[in-house]
Amino acid sequence: VSDATRIRVGEGSDSAYDVVVGSGLLGELPALLGSGVERVLVVHPPTLRAKGETVRHDLGAHGFSAFVAEVPDAEGAKSAEVAARLWGVLGRAGFTRSDAIVGVGGGTVTDLAGFVAATWLRGVRVVQVPTTLLAMVDAAVGGKTGINTAEGKNLVGAFHPPAGVLCDLSALETLPHNDFVSGLAEVVKCGFIADPAILDLVEADLEGVKRGDGPAVRELIERSIAVKARVVTEDLKESSLREILNYGHTFAHALEQVEGYSWRHGEAVSVGMVYVAELSRLAGRLDDAVVARHRSVLAGVGLPTGYRGDRWPKLHGAMSRDKKSRGSLLRFVVLDALAKPGRLEGPDPSLLQAAYAAISCD
Ligand SMILES: NC(=O)c1ccc[n+]([C@@H]2O[C@H](COP(=O)([O-])OP(=O)(O)OC[C@H]3O[C@@H](n4cnc5c(N)ncnc54)[C@H](O)[C@@H]3O)[C@@H](O)[C@H]2O)c1
Ligand SMILES: [Zn+2]
Repeated sequence: VSDATRIRVGEGSDSAYDVVVGSGLLGELPALLGSGVERVLVVHPPTLRAKGETVRHDLGAHGFSAFVAEVPDAEGAKSAEVAARLWGVLGRAGFTRSDAIVGVGGGTVTDLAGFVAATWLRGVRVVQVPTTLLAMVDAAVGGKTGINTAEGKNLVGAFHPPAGVLCDLSALETLPHNDFVSGLAEVVKCGFIADPAILDLVEADLEGVKRGDGPAVRELIERSIAVKARVVTEDLKESSLREILNYGHTFAHALEQVEGYSWRHGEAVSVGMVYVAELSRLAGRLDDAVVARHRSVLAGVGLPTGYRGDRWPKLHGAMSRDKKSRGSLLRFVVLDALAKPGRLEGPDPSLLQAAYAAISCD
């Protein structure tokens, strides 16, 4: 397809792969699968039954022996039971080391499909076909896969880079508006931590970006993928750089936990970014204008920028237990300026609470 954009991830390593972005890209799938593949399992959620069937049919027309497996919607897909069911499907169909899995869906499906691919025969190829904005710019890129347990989210997983990622932008046409807006939080995050041109593009057409049909949307997706690709690639050499992708996430994870996972991830990340921007400012590291810009950009696309003011003990407790914090010291990715992320370790509890007061609303 002539108008496809290719973004390379992991260049220089033996697991480098392409993220292909464009519209109507199914024809690209066989090339991304690579040579030697005979059997392909297409994993999809109930909402994408037709799309999964189209992918299966198309692979069949290209000579593959293709199967589909429907998995429960959303987080229901990321369980040991569902993974075990897919291992059973692979076993009964005789999948070998040279066969492959294709994940068609949001981040929950790409996480599950990637995990099953990582574990089947200690690793078979997976091509991700993300269909939510979040999965395109974040979950499907970078090689982290995983499932949940009763004790928490993403506690079981593996690092298993995909053989390729296919972002078919036309999939976004059916995505519910709130899921699209939620994904914009990660796009804006990429703008603050690495590529301020993203912020300029969003600000130039807030309404079009919020609706998802503005002319800048494709470039926003490509720039966000490029940010993640750069960070993930650099991280292969200098580990811990990847941490900057967690901007806003320490507070967001705590908020998600306190709210019993009833919030969309991007909405929590949006509040979390305003929180950590305020924390950066209170620590004397970030100027007021950049903090204000967090609020205006995020609110401009319909994301929340404040949170109820009576939850501090629970939030603080949840942040202290976050698996990303090391030992007992709370760690935050902060901003020193636009595109200048830094680290703040063990900030004074009064500073943490003051940042919370700054985002509290009723
Ligand atoms: N591996 C990583 O690096 C990484 C990074 C970020 C997030 N994640 C994971 O991603 C998951 C969240 O992903 P998500 O936000 O995409 O959620 P999701 O997979 O639950 O998708 C959201 C909803 O949209 C539906 N949907 C998906 N695509 C659609 C389409 N094109 N049209 C209509 N409906 C569609 C889904 O069925 C679901 O109900 C979490 O489990 C999170 O842990 C992983
Ligand atoms: Zn996130």
